[in-house]
Amino acid sequence: MQIAVVGSGYVGLVAGACFADMGHEVVLVDNDDRKLAALKSGQVPIHEKFLPELLNRHRGRRLTFSGDLQGAVRASSAIFIAVGTPPTDRGEADLSYVEAVAREISGAIDGYRVIIEKSTVPVFTSEWVRKIILRNGADRDSFDVASNPEFLREGTAVTDFLFPDRIVIGCDSERSAEMLREIYAPLTQGTYHARKDAIPRPDRTSIPAPLITTSTKSAELIKHASNAFLAMKISFVNAVASVCEAVGADVNQVVHGVGTDSRIGPRFLNPGIGYGGSCFPKDVLAFRAVARESGYDFRLLDEVMRINEGQRQSFLRKVRSALWTLRGKRLGVLGLAFKGGTDDIRDSPAILIVQALLQEGCRITAYDPAAMERACEVVNSKVNFTNTPYEAAKGADALLILTEWEEFGHLDLDRLAQELKYPIVIDGRNLYDPEVMAASGFTYYSVGRPPSYPDVMLPQLRNGSSHSMQTQL
Ligand code: UDX
Ligand code: UDX
Repeated sequence: MQIAVVGSGYVGLVAGACFADMGHEVVLVDNDDRKLAALKSGQVPIHEKFLPELLNRHRGRRLTFSGDLQGAVRASSAIFIAVGTPPTDRGEADLSYVEAVAREISGAIDGYRVIIEKSTVPVFTSEWVRKIILRNGADRDSFDVASNPEFLREGTAVTDFLFPDRIVIGCDSERSAEMLREIYAPLTQGTYHARKDAIPRPDRTSIPAPLITTSTKSAELIKHASNAFLAMKISFVNAVASVCEAVGADVNQVVHGVGTDSRIGPRFLNPGIGYGGSCFPKDVLAFRAVARESGYDFRLLDEVMRINEGQRQSFLRKVRSALWTLRGKRLGVLGLAFKGGTDDIRDSPAILIVQALLQEGCRITAYDPAAMERACEVVNSKVNFTNTPYEAAKGADALLILTEWEEFGHLDLDRLAQELKYPIVIDGRNLYDPEVMAASGFTYYSVGRPPSYPDVMLPQLRNGSSHSMQTQL
C-alpha cells in the first residue's frame, strides 16, 4: 500500500522504516529541510537499534523522503500523522502541529483517504482533525480519521514496532478499519515474521500480534492510560524503595517477591532516579489535564509526578550524605541519556541531576555511550566529556551512575577503584550487588537498599552512631 508518514522524528522515522520493511511504499514527510537532506544523504539522525539497517535497505526504493505534504497525500491511501505534541505551559499537549498538518492535508484529498493519528494525543483529537479537514473543504465521504497509537520504547523501537504486544486501531468506520487491517496484515498474519530477512525476534514476544479494534476515542485513551499506568508502576516502586531505605530492607528482594505474582508482573518495577524521556512526563501531565477538563479530578496522577520529582531530590540527598560538602568536589558521571540504549536526553533525570550538582559547585566529568553530543548542547562548557567510563572516574571523589546502560553493569571494578580518588559509587540505577561492591573495596550507595562498606571502613563505623556513620563516609 502507498503510505505517507508526516513527521520524521522518533516515531515517524521508525514507523516509516518498519512499514517499508513490511512491504509498503512509504513517503516520509517533514517540514525541516535540514533533516530531509540528512535522511536523503544516508544519515541516521537517532540512535536506534536496527534503524540504520532498515534505512539502508529501503532508502530511495520503498522509502522516500519529501517536504511536499500535499504531493504525498495525493500519492497515498493512508496518511499517518506523527508530528510532535510537546506540552504547553499548562501541561496540555500542544496540538498546533497536528492541526497545521490536518489543514494542509485537506486541500490535497482527491479520493478516499484514511488519516491516522499516530502521535500521542488526548481524547477527541481525531474528532478535531476530522472537523479541521471538513472546515477546509474536503468532502465528508472522501476521508476517515483513525487513531493508531504506538507503544514504542526508545532503544528497542524497531523490534517493538515489528513484534508488538498488540496493535490498537481506533476506527469509527468499517472502511477505515479494513485499510488498517490490510496495512498491519504482515504482522497480524505472521507473514513478515516468516521471512528470512525479517529483523530478529526478541525474547518474550509472541507472534503474530493481536489486533485490537476500538473506537477512535478508546484508542486515544488506551495510549494515555497505558503510559500513565507504567509511570505509576515506576513511581509505586520508587515509593516502596523509600520505605525500604527507611526500614533497612532491600527493594530488589521486595520487588522479586511482588513481581512474581503474575497479576503484577516483574517488568517496569526497577527503582531508580525517576522516569524521564519524551513520553511519560508529558503524557502523565496531558492525561491529568484531559481528565480535569472532562470533569474528573485524577489526583492519583499528581502523586505519581510528585514521587517522581522526589526521587531525584532523594538521590541528591544521597550524594550530599556520601560526600558531606559538594562545593569543588570532582564527580564522575556515567550516563546522561534518559535511559539506556538511546541518545535521547529529553526530560532526562540524569541531566537534571547533573545540572543540580553543577549549581552546588561540583565539577563534573561525564561519559555516555551515545548521548554526549546532545548533552553538550544543554550543559555545554560546564561538563568535561570523556571517551570511556574509566576516564570519567579518573581522580573523582565519587562515581555516579545515572543511566541504566547495559555496559555500566559490567565495569572492571579493580580498574575503577584504581581510577577513583575515593572508591565511592552512588548508583541511581541499582546496577550492582552491594556485597560485591563492598568486597571490591567500594563504599556503595544505591536506591532502596542499605549502603554497603568495604571491610576497612567497618571498625571505624562500629564505634559511631548510625548518623555519624553516614557523615564519616
Ligand atoms: C512523537 C510523537 O509525535 C509524540 O506525540 C509522542 O508522544 C512521542 O513521539 P517525536 O517523534 O519524538 O514525537 O517528535 P519529534 O522528534 O519532535 O519529531 C516530530 C517531527 O515532525 C520533526 O521531524 C518535525 O520536523 C516534524 N514536523 C513537525 C513536521 O514535519 N511538520 C510540522 O508541522 C511539525
Ligand atoms: C515509553 C513507553 O514504554 C512506550 O510504550 C511509549 O510508546 C513511549 O514511552 P520510552 O519513553 O522510550 O517508552 O522509555 P521507557 O523504557 O518506558 O522508560 C521511560 C523512563 O522510565 C526512563 O527514564 C527509564 O529509565 C524509566 N524506568 C523504566 C524506570 O525508572 N524503571 C523501570 O522499571 C522502567
